[in-house]
Amino acid sequence: MKTMLEVDNLWFKYEDRYILKGISLKLFEGENLIILGGSGGGKSTILRVLLGLEEVDKGKIIIMGEDVTHLREDEWFGVRKKIGMVFQDGALFDFLSVRGNVGYRLYEQRLPQDEIEKIVREKLRIVGLEDVIDYMPSELSGGMKRRVAIARALVGDPPIMFYDEPTTGLDPITAKIIVRHINSLRDKFGVASIVVTHELNYAYMLADRIMMLKDGTFIFEGKSEDLVKCADPYIKEFVK
Ligand SMILES: Nc1ncnc2c1ncn2[C@@H]1O[C@H](COP(=O)(O)OP(=O)(O)O)[C@@H](O)[C@H]1O
Ligand SMILES: [Mg+2]
Repeated sequence: MKTMLEVDNLWFKYEDRYILKGISLKLFEGENLIILGGSGGGKSTILRVLLGLEEVDKGKIIIMGEDVTHLREDEWFGVRKKIGMVFQDGALFDFLSVRGNVGYRLYEQRLPQDEIEKIVREKLRIVGLEDVIDYMPSELSGGMKRRVAIARALVGDPPIMFYDEPTTGLDPITAKIIVRHINSLRDKFGVASIVVTHELNYAYMLADRIMMLKDGTFIFEGKSEDLVKCADPYIKEFVK
């Protein structure tokens, strides 16, 4: 199995406080890896670090065979193209239409209009939202905003996707639609994803593998069915 991303003994701190304390992980081709844990455990921080948005203290990050641990800001651009990021709550630009949001980077690159239109429609079609291409974010439901954010992250066909709490704040039916989209990107296109969440039931629906984070360290790695059998008191409480 091809390794898409590898983290080895990574330490990260804000000022004097360590947030990530020697974490290691591997993401394989075509899998959904779930990072599960309570709030404040460092889940969002892991994604920020893996996108080169924070400087690490110690350890190593390898993305698709390239050691990116100490890249300069301008060198990160190429690496980030390999990763589609879906931020918590979608983070769409309110002042841009759905077309403008999804095509944002393509407009920046000054691609011809008809090419942009083609790509934007293709990505919206994947999440079943081609119909709302002319809408403004304020006209969309919470679930639709998340799907637009997924479409936007798919521009450039990244082989890796990161999702930060993709189901949080959504009703169960809408959340399951998001889960289906994430799973189908794996099944249809072989996308490898890291999904960060504190919601156990959606973690189970998504996971090929689960890693449980607590206070900046992983305390479990394995299959969903093994998580429930775990003797660790924190995990027992979490899965109850
Ligand atoms: N910019 C920041 N400066 C200082 N501390 C931060 C900053 N961002 C997050 N933290 C702290 O890092 C810890 C982990 O945060 P975070 O990664 O957001 O956790 P999670 O996503 O698991 O809820 C928390 O204690 C949080 O207060
Ligand atoms: Mg978070």
